[in-house]
Amino acid sequence: MSGGGEGEKRMRAGQGGWDRPAEREKRGASIPDPASTPVPAALRERIESAMALYPDARSAAIPALHAAQEVHGWCSPEAIAQVACVMAVTPAYLDSLATFYDMLETAPAGRHSVYVCTNISCSLRGADELLAAVEEAAAADPDVRVRSFECLGACDIAPMASVDGVYVGPLTPQDVPELLADLRAGRAIMPERQLARRLVADQRANSREFPPPPPQGEGAPTSAERDGAHASEERQP
Ligand code: FES
Repeated sequence: MSGGGEGEKRMRAGQGGWDRPAEREKRGASIPDPASTPVPAALRERIESAMALYPDARSAAIPALHAAQEVHGWCSPEAIAQVACVMAVTPAYLDSLATFYDMLETAPAGRHSVYVCTNISCSLRGADELLAAVEEAAAADPDVRVRSFECLGACDIAPMASVDGVYVGPLTPQDVPELLADLRAGRAIMPERQLARRLVADQRANSREFPPPPPQGEGAPTSAERDGAHASEERQP
């Protein structure tokens, strides 16, 4: 059936990797040789730190690929070989993950990502217009990759977008120039619209400073002591 409606257009935009045929002539993969696979020291450190968090080091594959994507801009063969080398797995194993998870880029892509949610809550509040405005404003900028996304789990700030991983909303098409200007300048993205800065019902979680400064030095209160202090503040008349 042929179509072309907005829904179908969004689905096509969200595809990634599914229609790539198996390369049946390709040789079996092997773990890259550390002697011939240089890995940037900072990237190696991030991958090893991620591996240290899991009983099975392979569980770190996704954070490791994200780290490599930040360095290389996408999960290029070189990036995958570097991750495979540090993790001592085959590139084929990592490729199977990178082609499945659509936040991992398997083709050259811009350094910045703007994912506009177009699921039901956001759609009802103008997400299609927002997506169109972002696509138009960023069309000539190869450094910004724009795409629609299914529910990003922040329906209370619909319509919203994830901008380099920062949730921002509610947004209108008129907000797009400011959003892209912040992104290109490396500034905090529309700080007053960030989900992380919204006040929540639990007063103890709110702070005028964001993020709250960690306690410094010896004698800093433990979390239990801080909770106790908060509880006694709440009891004040
Ligand atoms: S529908 Fe957009 S965040 Fe849930």
